[in-house]
Formats: sequence, structure tokens, C-alpha cells
Amino acid sequence: MTTTNSTSPRPNSRRGDAQERGGLLVEGVTLTLGDGDATITALDDVHLNVAPGEFVAIVGPSGSGKSSLLAVAGALTTPDAGRVLLDGVDISRANGREKARHRREKIGFVFQSGNLIPALTTLDQLRFALDVAGKRADDGYDPRELLDRVGMGHRAGHRPHQLSGGERQRVGIARALVTRPAVLLVDEPTAALDRARSDDIVTLLAHETHEANVATIMVTHDHDVLHHCDRILSMVDGRLSE
Ligand SMILES: Nc1ncnc2c1ncn2[C@@H]1O[C@H](COP(=O)(O)OP(=O)(O)OP(=O)(O)O)[C@@H](O)[C@H]1O
Ligand SMILES: [Mg+2]
Repeated sequence: MTTTNSTSPRPNSRRGDAQERGGLLVEGVTLTLGDGDATITALDDVHLNVAPGEFVAIVGPSGSGKSSLLAVAGALTTPDAGRVLLDGVDISRANGREKARHRREKIGFVFQSGNLIPALTTLDQLRFALDVAGKRADDGYDPRELLDRVGMGHRAGHRPHQLSGGERQRVGIARALVTRPAVLLVDEPTAALDRARSDDIVTLLAHETHEANVATIMVTHDHDVLHHCDRILSMVDGRLSE
């Protein structure tokens, strides 16, 4: 029998995912920030390939370029050189309007604290994300089913201030996934959580990466959660290495 039990992993499952998809390909990306004498090479010839259903962690010192890489991968920042292919589409050559569309349709973002909209209930956070992406529940996931899957079905009517930090992060993950993005970009999701909650959240991210067949990059300083990841890369001075 099929259940919605979020503790039963289905590695690389394509359940309900009729559409074949590409992951994320970053090729020779360089990014210079600042101006005048104060320029800094935030990304220095970065190459990265994340397959659908793969969970990649990036670690590295503060200021090494981790968030800059997520910004480039997420079509928020245009690199000075190199290409970013998202689900087969070169977003580094897209104009502003196209980039915004790719962000809405193909990318899910998860931040440190969930970044939920204070006035909306849990269920409406997900419905709103679908609306913004111009998708209906059958283009993405059914919001109620997805909330059950991330263990938040019983909090569908709660607003963010009525949730714990770990619960808010679960809702943030569901909201990022409800549009069925090809790529999930996660920046320090456990920074505000205790150890047990951190482990829960990264376990969920690993499970959903496989279940939703999404290419996930997680930036983290939390070495205790790395065993949940398929691959660990480090960033030092804008350079990425295995
Ligand atoms: N808008 C900007 N203008 C100039 N320099 C910037 C800008 N944004 C970031 N930087 C610089 O680029 C470098 C990389 O920053 P980034 O935020 O990517 O680091 P990070 O690895 O995410 O660090 P942390 O672990 O502290 O979050 C840093 O030296 C930072 O000061
Ligand atoms: Mg950062």
C-alpha cells in the first residue's frame, strides 16, 4: 500500500513525475563584486553539475562565495563569465523578465528562517506560491498532500507565529517544492535550529530531493548533517572543489 509516510525513503523515485527533466549545470562561472579598488572575485571559474534527485552540500568559510553561487544558480545574479543551465535552459543569457519566469517556474529557494508570509496560514503559503508561479495544483503538487508529506498536515490552518522554528522550516521547504521546481537552492537551513531539529530538517530535504527528483544544493556550516548528502563540496576563496 502506498502511504504518505515521510519516513519511508524512495531513492531517485520519479513517482508522479511524468516530465523528464535536467538538473543544474554551472560551467566556468566567474563573478566579480564591488567596484573600483574594492572588487572581489566572489566566484572563480566554478564548475558544478547536480543531477535530478541529487543532494549536494557546499561547505566553506564565511565569505568564500557560497551564497554568491546560490544567487548565480538561482538567476538572481548574472555571472561575468560562464554559463548556468537550468533544466536544459541557459539562464545566464536570459533577460530580466525571462529570469524572473525561470525563477518562479524552475527554482525553489529555502532560507535560514523559513521566510514565510506572516499573515498567511500554512496551507495558503503553498497556494500563494503556486499562484505566483502561475501554476495550478495539478502542475505542481497538491498543497494538502505535500503538507502531509512533510509532516505539517495538522498545522495547515496555523500562521507562522503559531509554529516552532523547525515547523516553519518544514513549511518553507514545502512552499519551495509545491511548484515542482527542477532545482532547490537551500542556504543554511539549520542555522536557527537545535541539533535534533537540524537533523530532522536535513533528513526531510534528503527525502524530498529523492522523492521530487529535484537537483538540490544546500549551503551549510553544520557538519553534523553532512552524512545525509550525496556529495560534499567545499568552497574556498571563490573556488569550488570536491
Ligand atoms: N553586493 C556585494 N558587493 C561587494 N561584495 C560582496 C557583495 N556581496 C558579497 N560580497 C562579497 O563576496 C564574498 C562572498 O560572499 P558570500 O555571501 O557569497 O559568502 P558566503 O560564503 O555565503 O559567506 P557566509 O558563510 O558568511 O554566508 C564576500 O567577501 C563578500 O564580502
Ligand atoms: Mg552565505
